[in-house]
Parts: sequence; C-alpha cells; structure tokens
Amino acid sequence: MSVPRVYISDLAKHEGKEIRLKCWMYNKRSSGKIHFLQLRDGTGFIQGVVVKGEIPDDQFSEARNLWLEASLEVTGNVRRDERAPSGFELSVTNVEVIHNPTEEYPIGKKDHGIDFLLDNRHLWLRSPSQLAIMRIRERIIWSAREYLHDNGFLLADSPILTGAIGEGASGLFEVPYFDMGNAYLAQTGQLYAEAAAAAFGKVYTFGPTFRAEKSKTRRHLTEFWMLEPEVAFYDHYDNMKLQEDLVSYIVQQVLKNCPNELAAIGRDTEPLKRVVAPFHHITYDDAVTMLQKLGSSITYGIDFGGEDETILTQQFDRPLFVECYPKKIKAFYMKQHPEREDLVLCDDLLAPEGYGEIIGGSQREDSLDLLLSRIREQKLPEDSYSWYLDLRRYGTFVHSGFGMGIERVVAWICGLPHIRETIPFPRTIYRLNP
Ligand code: 4AD
Ligand code: MG
Repeated sequence: MSVPRVYISDLAKHEGKEIRLKCWMYNKRSSGKIHFLQLRDGTGFIQGVVVKGEIPDDQFSEARNLWLEASLEVTGNVRRDERAPSGFELSVTNVEVIHNPTEEYPIGKKDHGIDFLLDNRHLWLRSPSQLAIMRIRERIIWSAREYLHDNGFLLADSPILTGAIGEGASGLFEVPYFDMGNAYLAQTGQLYAEAAAAAFGKVYTFGPTFRAEKSKTRRHLTEFWMLEPEVAFYDHYDNMKLQEDLVSYIVQQVLKNCPNELAAIGRDTEPLKRVVAPFHHITYDDAVTMLQKLGSSITYGIDFGGEDETILTQQFDRPLFVECYPKKIKAFYMKQHPEREDLVLCDDLLAPEGYGEIIGGSQREDSLDLLLSRIREQKLPEDSYSWYLDLRRYGTFVHSGFGMGIERVVAWICGLPHIRETIPFPRTIYRLNP
C-alpha cells in the first residue's frame, strides 16, 4: 500500500503513521549526523528530522546540499512533540528532491528594506507572516459573504469596464474601448448595485475597484477590493445597523477561526474582542469641534485627513460612525439631510486604534430633481447617467448602501501599519510589478 500524501494542517489525524508531504524547505540546520529541515506546504510548517542511517546514505548527503526553497517530497513518521509550534515533528524516512535551486534564495534572514521585499513580492508571499495575513484576509471575505448570504442578500456583480462615472470625475483610469472612445475602470459598483436593489431588494457587489489618485498614504491602493451592499427601503439608520452587524460578525469570526494566524503576526486581540454592537456615533459637526479641542488645525467644511481620523478613533474603544458630512465634500448621489440643506445623510465608519475609514456609506438621493441638480452642480456628464436617473423615474424608493474596503479591514484586523501587505500583489502609484 502506498504511503498517503497529506497536508501539514492535517498531521494531527496521522499521529504515529507514515505519511508523504509535498513541500518546500524554507530553512535548514545540520550537524554531522542529523539535518533539521524546516518544511512548509502552504497549510502549515513542520520540522523534518533526518538522521544518518535512517534514510538511504545518498539521500542523507543530498539533503546536506539542499538550498533554501528546494521543492521536495518527504516521507516520514508523524511524532507528537510538545516543543514544536505545530505540536508535531516528522521523523524522515525518505527525501525525493523535486527541484534543488542552483542559486541562493534572495530573501534571507537579514532585515530587508520594504522596497526589496515588494520587488520580490512573489517570493515574500512564502513567509509565515504573509501566509497568516492571507488566511485572515480569506476569512474576512468568507465571513462577509456568509453573513450577507445568510441574511438574504443576492450577489449582483457589477461591471469593471464602465461608461458612467462613480465617485466623481477625479481619479479615473481610462481604457480605449473600440469605436466608443474611452471606458473607465470602475471606482465603485454602487450605481449598478442601486439598479440591482430595485430589481432584487437586498444585494451586494464584490470586486476590484480602481482609483487613479496620486495618494501615497499607508491607506491607499490604486486597485482595491470593495464589498458594496445596497438595500431597498433601508434608510440611513438601517444602513448603519447593517454595517455594525456585518463588521462585528467579521471580527468575531476572525477571532474564532484564526487564533494561530493572529498569534503568528503578534496581533493583540483585546481591542478586537471589544468590536461588538453598539458602536459609537458622532456627527461631522461634533467631530470637528472635538478635533479642534484636541489641537487639530481642521476647519469646518473640509474633509478629514488621515491624521484627523487617527486622532478621532483614538478617543473611542470601538468603531466610530461619523455621520452627516457637508454636502459639498461628498459624492453627488447622497441624500440631502431633511433638516439641514448643507448636509447629507451619510456615514464613514472609522476603525479603532488609529486605523480610520474602513466604510463609506449613505442613504441615496431618491428625488429625481435633486439628483439632477447635483449632477449639474458637479458638472458630471448627464448623458452617461440617464439609466441611473431611470431608477428615480420608475418607482423611486428610499434606499441605502455602503462600500467596505477589504484591504483597509485586513490592515486593521491584522494590526498592520501599512495597506501594502494586505493583498497578494499590491498596486500603488509606484508599483505595477510583480
Ligand atoms: O468612501 P468610498 O469612496 O465610497 C464609495 O466608493 C461608495 N460608492 C461606496 C458605496 O456606498 N457603495 O470608498 C469606500 C471604501 C472606503 O471606506 C475605503 O475602505 C475603501 O473603500 N477605499 C480604499 N481602499 C484602498 N485604497 C483606496 N484608494 C481606497 N479608496 C477607498
Ligand atoms: Mg470615503
């Protein structure tokens, strides 16, 4: 009977048995009669112990000459070992070399600068911290979709190549589009989500979105993934409740399912445990007053910078909704405040610990006349919005939605100082490769 091939994450089920791994060797220590091979296969890490005399002699000498990141097929017995991080060790009985590199692996033990690591992102992904971050990212996306699916939302994917403009005329990527001039890469799926909400009620879109902004901050990518729920007959308050429920669900699911990954990147989980409803609320007006008292130079009527958001979130132990911003600094589609013509019914959800905006949401303008005047005020191309205006012509309806930036959420939950490690291959204004 052939030895079963298993994954490192499943080793506990094979204690005391002989198994086969297909893996890479990410580190190695040797003394005369013994090699310690650090093995990884994407599901976990384990030490393989190779003792002279317990495997064929030629294999023992071959193992001495392995370079880092050699790909291997390793057979061995699974032994419990309390000292090992995975709880197990492998007593190796056979090593087949699939590929032994002929040159030194570029990423070593020394501290590499961030530019070097990003230039080698395709290799950097193999490191334990990157595996942990990607597993947490996957859990965040998985639990978001699970929450929405379980609560009756329909996935209605929106196009990436668009004719209409989403968030405003700035920061668009243009792509030549046959005889039709230019298409734009979507900045948001929202306008399509609104059409889908009128058709299907509770919907969401999830996909990559693009912003050609020259922002070089630790919070900005030029390509990022956005989850955008949109619900018919939800108002501003229903909308914030949904955000609160979704975000708490995601955080609690990560805590429950990813304890090892959070530990691997040294995340303090105490602040995450506090992420349960109810979140804090503050109006834009009050936030400006608070910031000024705290020494910010912000003046009323302008948008918060990253620094202001950081200061604000540090005053609260849970996520913070900032509500009702001035109309003139927000997108054209937001509903005018019923009592204050200068404000809109919107919210930004700021993550604690200085992370800042992870969600932007609003009730949508459902009056055809007000929406048209906003489009004209902002000098947006009226023609490309004709289908969007139809949603107000045929059975207009109160509706609301929001966009959650996945990478911002990953950075916050993982406690990362910069957004560039939250996606396998980050796109910034300086980086198109790898
Ligand atoms: O606040 P934003 O621009 O809102 C919208 O696009 C709405 N149309 C969403 C909606 O109502 N359906 O973006 C939403 C979120 C932000 O809160 C942030 O998390 C993320 O998208 N985001 C970015 N993430 C990374 N890099 C960037 N350049 C981002 N711009 C926005
Ligand atoms: Mg925003």
